[in-house]
Amino acid sequence: MELLDERERAPTNDLTTALLAAARDLNPPLARDAVMGVPLDLLVAGHVTVTRAIGSALVLLLGEPGRDDELHSDSGLVPAAVEEILRLESPAQGLFRTTTRPVTLGGVSLPAGARLMVHYGSANRDERVFECPADYDPRRAGLNRHLAFGKGVHFCIGAPLARLELGIALPMLFERLPGLRLADRSLAWEPIFFARGLERLDVEWDVG
Ligand code: HEM
Repeated sequence: MELLDERERAPTNDLTTALLAAARDLNPPLARDAVMGVPLDLLVAGHVTVTRAIGSALVLLLGEPGRDDELHSDSGLVPAAVEEILRLESPAQGLFRTTTRPVTLGGVSLPAGARLMVHYGSANRDERVFECPADYDPRRAGLNRHLAFGKGVHFCIGAPLARLELGIALPMLFERLPGLRLADRSLAWEPIFFARGLERLDVEWDVG
């Protein structure tokens, strides 16, 4: 709240100032506590998802021989590998929706007001959409049909940033940590559906 007061008194060229201006332009204007929540939303939605994705990506890439070398030797493959990692290890496994009218989904009749979990992680392994869905294949056809960033009006606004971050972080890890490998294959995953990821990941590398 203090920061909001400060930016109202003396606007600057930052996110909080932009949010305050946007909130004022709405009719009715957005409440101040809602404005205050946005940076926190961005931090949670933007940080924990990407960091978890980096851990999951390492398991996927280091778990089978050659996958890391392939990325290292062909940087053009990185964007596709990022998409394939997000498809297989979707950090947002699913989120909730409420039906606004009676609807039939997958042969099931639902009344208005039903609470649903839309499971992006499951859709990303739909064998009607992806051939051999459990396989890691960054060269597969229709790679960008995955739903790791959701779909529709709530599609992830941070998707370009997340793609950029992963596309930088993964090659950089292989570059900076030669011989990077898993030190322990007994992996423990956090039992959550949002920001799916590992409790810890032990790795080792060669020190020259
Ligand atoms: C690998 C990284 C990420 C994944 C897997 C991911 C996933 C998602 C998904 C599935 C949604 C849709 C939510 C829904 O359907 O209700 C979403 C929405 C959102 N994401 Fe991301 N996200 C990632 C990174 C980021 C980053 C880096 C930011 C911002 C810095 C961000 C900010 C948001 C916000 C603000 C929304 C809400 C959009 C809305 O409701 O209109 N995300 N994200």
